[in-house]
Parts: sequence; C-alpha cells; structure tokens
Amino acid sequence: MDKLNIVGNGPLRGEISISGAKNAALPILAATLLCPEPFTVSNVPHLRDITTTLELLGRFGTRIELDENMTLVADSASLTTLQAPYELVRTMRASILVLGPLLTRFGEAEVSLPGGCAIGSRPVNLHIQGLKAMGAHIEIEDGYIKAHAKRLKGARFLFDVISVTGTENLMMAATLADGVTVLENAAREPEITDLARCLTAMGARIKGAGTDTITIEGVEKLHGGSHTITSDRIETGTFLVAAAATGGHIRLRRTEPSYLDAVIEKLRETGAIIHSEGDVIEIDMRGKRPKSVNVTTAPYPAFPTDMQAQFVALNAFAQGTATVKETIFENRFMHVQELQRMGADIELQGNTAIVRGVEVLHGAPVMATDLRASACLVIAGLAAQGETEIDRIYHLDRGYECIEEKLAQLGAKIRRLPAGTRPQKCTGAS
Ligand code: UD1
Repeated sequence: MDKLNIVGNGPLRGEISISGAKNAALPILAATLLCPEPFTVSNVPHLRDITTTLELLGRFGTRIELDENMTLVADSASLTTLQAPYELVRTMRASILVLGPLLTRFGEAEVSLPGGCAIGSRPVNLHIQGLKAMGAHIEIEDGYIKAHAKRLKGARFLFDVISVTGTENLMMAATLADGVTVLENAAREPEITDLARCLTAMGARIKGAGTDTITIEGVEKLHGGSHTITSDRIETGTFLVAAAATGGHIRLRRTEPSYLDAVIEKLRETGAIIHSEGDVIEIDMRGKRPKSVNVTTAPYPAFPTDMQAQFVALNAFAQGTATVKETIFENRFMHVQELQRMGADIELQGNTAIVRGVEVLHGAPVMATDLRASACLVIAGLAAQGETEIDRIYHLDRGYECIEEKLAQLGAKIRRLPAGTRPQKCTGAS
C-alpha cells in the first residue's frame, strides 16, 4: 500500500485550482443511467471513487468515453445487467446511488447492501422507505436490495433524518415517476443543487433544490445533453485549513466561495484573513498561530462533517481549548488517536472532542482510517515538526485529486512512497 511522506516545512504559499466535486460527480454519473441518449459530463475529478463508479457503469453496459481533460460521455442506451455487485459496492457506499435511476427507468434493480463503514453504521433505510413510498416492491435477499416497480408513482416523502444521498436517490427516481413527488426535510447541500441542474439538462422538472422541500414532476423520458460538475467545497476547505495550520498565504482558483460560509466564518475566528472574489478565495495567516475554535457539525448550510477532522488537526496546535462536536456520524473520531501519537492533547467525551492546543506537534508514523481522517493527518503532518509518514493513503486517493502535486506546488515537502518502498529522508517536494 502506498504511503505519504511529509516533512513539516513551514507556510504553504502560492496558487492552485480546485477540482470538480467528488460528491457531485458520484450522483451525476449515476444519473446518466436515466438517460437513453449519450450525456456529456465535464470537470470530472480524477479520483478512485470515480474509477469505481465508471467500473460499475461499465458492468451495467454503459459505454463510456473519457478524454484527457476528464470530460466524459456516458451512453446508457441499452444495458446488459441491472445488478450492482457486492465487490464494487463494498468499496464505495455511494454505489447505492444507482438504485433510484435503474429502478425508475428499467422497473427493476439489484444493489448489494453496502455493509459496514469506518465512520458509523450508515444505514440506507431511508432510500428504501422512500422508494417504497413511490410504489416499489423491495426485498432484502442474499445481501442484496432487490427492487421492482412497473412504474414508480409520485409521492410525498418526509425524511426523518436529513440524508444527502437519500435525497439524491429519490430525486433521480422521481424524474421518471408517474406524477409529482415532494421530498420534505430534504438535504440542501450544493451537490444536490448541482445534481438538480444536471437532471434539468436531461429534461427533468425539478423545483426547490437547495431548499428543504424539493418537488419533482415525473416525465415519460429524459434526453441527452451536457453538464459541468461544480467545484469541490471540501477540497477547498481542506486547503484553506492547511494554509491556516502552516501560517500560509494561498489563493484557490475555480472554486465557489459561497459554498463555504460556515467554514470561512470558523477560519476567520482562528485569525485568518480571507477574501473572495468571483471563483477565487485567498487566505492569509502569515505570522500567526491559530486561535482555537469550537465547531459543531450539522447538515448544510451549517458546518460540514466532512471538515470536522481537519478542524481537529487545526485545533490540536491552536492557542486555547476547543470542543468539536460531531452530530452526523457516531464514530467519526478515528483520527484522534493518530493525532495523539503526534503529541496532540485531545479527550473524547461521547460525540465531542475536547482539544487542548499544544505548542508543537511532532511528526510520527500514522495510519489513515477514512477519507477525511486522512486529510486531517496530512494537515497535521504539514504543520508538525519533523517527518510524518501516513499509511493507507488509498483513502485519500478516493477523494482528493493529485493532493501531493497540489501541496508540492504550494511548497510542501511531500512525496508518495509506492508500496514496498523503504522509508527514506525526504529531500524535497516531488
Ligand atoms: C454524504 C456524503 C458524505 C458526507 C455525508 C454527510 C456523498 C457521496 N457522501 O454521505 O461525504 O459526510 O453526506 O454530509 O455525498 N441515515 C440514515 N438512514 C439512511 C441514510 C442516512 O439513518 O437511509 C443517517 C446516517 O447514518 C447519518 C445521516 O443520516 O447519520 C446523514 O447521512 P447521509 O447524509 O445519508 O450521508 P451520505 O449521503 O451517505
């Protein structure tokens, strides 16, 4: 397994571009299954989760052409199977997003139950309940969700817990249903809005995406078209925190500042000076040690759970004590033990981490346990004194495009050690 070697090297400086959003690309690629004609998707990020999704679409018989700029054309005119197998679904829970599109267009689908997850139990009961409310017959058999429906019917469905992929699955299913579907207590994440724009480009009729009530009027058929994926707000936020943690000064291009209001507010509390204009955000933390900030995760537009781990890293050597409360996933503090190995003073009390900032973190061998925990360890490694080696970085490759190249461009001393490479002293940014 590849590892990342990072040598704490002072402030990040410079300018990079932000990639297309992973969490927008995954539902959008699933949405191409709704379409009987070729559909073009641009600004697709180059990530392992995208490769997995393309492999899944390929299994169904979707023909995919991908150019060197990561613009792809997906042609799902005729499919050969409607089964999403366990071997792929278990590596990426978001595979559940094919359930709604396959069922609504073809009247049947079989998707493996995703199984366990490092950050919590993550059930898919709401996806299933919502589809049942639209008239689907669903059984769980041999580890698979087996769904049938002659044609789904429009329905009113109230999410008792806000679910991002749940909202997306039902929104996609409703596009071809008979009648009007109203999703209440829907997720409001920017990725939902981006999916709605993409579905609209296919001919879907959707109102209210980005609010907690989404209304979808089903149509008989969708058609080909094109869509450009929006920017990744979590990648943007991760680089902002990395700059704040290292006392850096960076500019991020091709991003959408308005997606990050809650994160930017917290960064300003740490002492960062942040300006945004158009699609650029600039953060300046030169000569400052961050002040601790309290954070509580909640659905958008509040502070995102996908930024929680990065803020634990920032608080670990900030001035003061902060509490970081996780309200979305029950087990999302796996990074705490790894940070403690680097000298962090963090106490866990249920769903809250009490982080007492220390003057210095020290580089150490650490292990990534999930995607955002990996980002947290990268930030800690950049800000620590000495050398950090992060094992199991395949988690990072699921969600951050060219992270070591981008960080090296900002002056970090970071390099990938391919599996089997013996640790060596880092001699410079690669
Ligand atoms: C999505 C994001 C993930 C982010 C998360 C929360 C994608 C591909 N992934 O994950 O990066 O961390 O939103 O912002 O977009 N729940 C149920 N029953 C369900 C579904 C969810 O109880 O059927 C619960 C979950 O256990 C969790 C909460 O709802 O406690 C939110 O989960 P959800 O929004 O569904 O997360 P994902 O869509 O899987």
